Amino acid sequence: MKRRRFICLGIETSCDETAIGLVKNGREIIADVVLSQVDLHRVYGGVVPEIACRAHIESILPILIKTLKDARIKLSDISAVGVSNRPGLIGALLVGLSVAKTLAWLLNKPLIAVNHIQAHLYVNNLVDELTYPYIGLVVSGGHTTLFWVKSPTYYKTIGRTRDDASGEAFDKVAKILELGYPGGPIIEITAQKGNQSAIKFPRGLVSDGSLDFSFSGLKTAVLYYCKGQNASSKSPLKNGLNIPDICASFQEAVVDTLAKKTLQAVRKKNAMAVVLGGGVVCNEALRKRFRDVCAKAGIKLYLPLKKLCTDNAVMVAAMTYEKFKEFKSFQKSLYLDAYSTAE
Ligand code: KG4
Ligand code: ZN
Repeated sequence: MKRRRFICLGIETSCDETAIGLVKNGREIIADVVLSQVDLHRVYGGVVPEIACRAHIESILPILIKTLKDARIKLSDISAVGVSNRPGLIGALLVGLSVAKTLAWLLNKPLIAVNHIQAHLYVNNLVDELTYPYIGLVVSGGHTTLFWVKSPTYYKTIGRTRDDASGEAFDKVAKILELGYPGGPIIEITAQKGNQSAIKFPRGLVSDGSLDFSFSGLKTAVLYYCKGQNASSKSPLKNGLNIPDICASFQEAVVDTLAKKTLQAVRKKNAMAVVLGGGVVCNEALRKRFRDVCAKAGIKLYLPLKKLCTDNAVMVAAMTYEKFKEFKSFQKSLYLDAYSTAE
């Protein structure tokens, strides 16, 4: 007998990637199209919401056509439509939501809301089936959050950043060092030539007993180190500073803080598994540290493939399948709204 195909289409437009993905029967990626807007925002040193919204509007329909073509399917083959409806830039989210509603209405299929942050963790299930409960850590440009996850659809926030996200810290430090945007990948490459013990930068909140994070003090410490207490001297390069040492020491401070806090969460909850997600997980130093500490603690570690760490829509499609299985009733779904906040 032929196995029934349940194809979920996922749409992702929460920030500066326009993405549509297709996942068959919950675990098989059949199309994964991501258009990054990074070239449009680079000149401003960060994402400009108005530019992001316009770019999503221009590219989303061509991307939909390409996605269907890549998977060699028709619109009518789609079983459910999922969309990131929080958190993110509100105008950007609304573009994806409008397209998702239109498709669900046109095809008379369920429309399912997906939390972008939860999807960053759930994407691991596409490679290695997740076991529950686990401690989830999402580290991206907009978020640094620890979760206690009891099932594919139960996420309890147990710690979060009180100021900058870790990816944001990478981006801001790269700006101070005049290295370009986005900062994460450039700092990682530059750090390879540096000494991570050269400068002892602060580890925010690492021993305050909470599971929260703080990265703004670290960012300011780098600024003062480069430009003096009143941040007045011009360029770190002109000051003759060792940029690779600064990058390596900064990166080590971030990685060390993330690993220590995650282990504190593991101990608090008696967890047996740690799951990572978000763009900062592309960082090889972070991946290695978590592999080492989890192996030492006897904890199972889930790391997404690098191409699934940054924003994509197969994570949305995979989560759509899971939510469809769990809840099954979506009559009011065309009233779905978008929200800038995570909860
Ligand atoms: O998950 P993501 O694509 O978008 C958000 O949801 O925010 O994450 C983007 C963030 C950026 O701040 C970027 O600098 C950071 O991930 N990032 C990295 C690396 N690659 C991307 N941070 C450190 N090392 C990297 N290799
Ligand atoms: Zn993201």
